[in-house]
Amino acid sequence: MKDSMATKDIIEIKNLVKKFGDFTAVNNISFNIKEGEVFGLLGPNGAGKTTTLNMLLTLLVPTSGKIIVDGMELSKNREKCKQLIGFMTQETTVEADLTARQNLDLFLHLYHVPEAEIPDRIELALEEADLGKFGDMKAGTFSGGMQRRLGLVRAMIQEPKILVLDEPTTGLDIQNRSTMWARIKELNKRGTTVIITTQYLEEADELCNRIGIIDHGKIMALGTPSEIKSEIAGNGKVLEIVSDKADVPKIISLLKTKFKISATANGETVTAVLDKGKIGDFTKISAMLDKEKILVLSIGLHLPTIDDVFLKLTGTAIRDTTGDMQGGRSNIRWR
Ligand SMILES: Nc1ncnc2c1ncn2[C@@H]1O[C@H](COP(=O)(O)OP(=O)(O)OP(=O)(O)O)[C@@H](O)[C@H]1O
Ligand SMILES: [Mg+2]
Repeated sequence: MKDSMATKDIIEIKNLVKKFGDFTAVNNISFNIKEGEVFGLLGPNGAGKTTTLNMLLTLLVPTSGKIIVDGMELSKNREKCKQLIGFMTQETTVEADLTARQNLDLFLHLYHVPEAEIPDRIELALEEADLGKFGDMKAGTFSGGMQRRLGLVRAMIQEPKILVLDEPTTGLDIQNRSTMWARIKELNKRGTTVIITTQYLEEADELCNRIGIIDHGKIMALGTPSEIKSEIAGNGKVLEIVSDKADVPKIISLLKTKFKISATANGETVTAVLDKGKIGDFTKISAMLDKEKILVLSIGLHLPTIDDVFLKLTGTAIRDTTGDMQGGRSNIRWR
């Protein structure tokens, strides 16, 4: 339900804190998730996304704060709340010794789905996971991507009221990712509220009604994708200059001294948010770079993307596009 908004808060997170020893992984965050929305939690590695979700899934006990699920305080109604939630954690593993079909069957029984519905649901899920031919093979023999797809359809198979997905499509190729997006959207249309973390900004933009950006355990921005985009740039635009890495510091310093523009470097790319009044400087900036004999591979202005918001708020790009696309936890450190 990307375009219409429900009003009831199905999840309320109030002053949630999680400490591991002296280290604060989740630092007093509060936000609500509305019934029927797809809510995305975005943040760099180590930001606190998994820790937050794991508290919602009762896999971790909060140091302080409260989580309310469908009007019930989670810590006092664990079993009732858990029945409402389907999930796939970042480390979700399927049962290696069971076949794909048996894995799905187990979950359907766990959630008390009527016996008569079970065979059809299993066949449909196998098809959606593109595992139709592998239903009777042991999950342990599957590739990482196949196991991930099985884990994802298993999380959705009982059509939960709330679906929690921690980086569900990391490691999937683009085709399987779009099939999974379609499945998540369909389930959401039928009323499931979805909470998702992702490293893929296009995934957040495509799927989410609202996004929370989290860094160092704190919520840095919260709103619809277009709200948070305009929050950083107002009516302005983003200037992007691609140059030689060696020229990047010089470009940043020239923008500062000659145009009073603060820019950020990311590899060979320089970006800066230009507010409305500064957009007119674009041609002058271009001419200045030319005059200073700085190599410019490309220069342009664009409307802000979530990538820009992310860079501005966390000082880092969401993802190195040449980086490791496999597995759950990425080995790229952001700071
Ligand atoms: N059990 C634990 N003991 C100690 N520190 C932990 C534990 N679990 C998480 N942390 C730390 O808490 C911080 C937040 O971790 P978390 O897994 O929530 O990040 P994340 O946003 O999910 O990152 P990623 O994108 O890598 O999955 C990290 O610095 C991590 O090292
Ligand atoms: Mg995580």
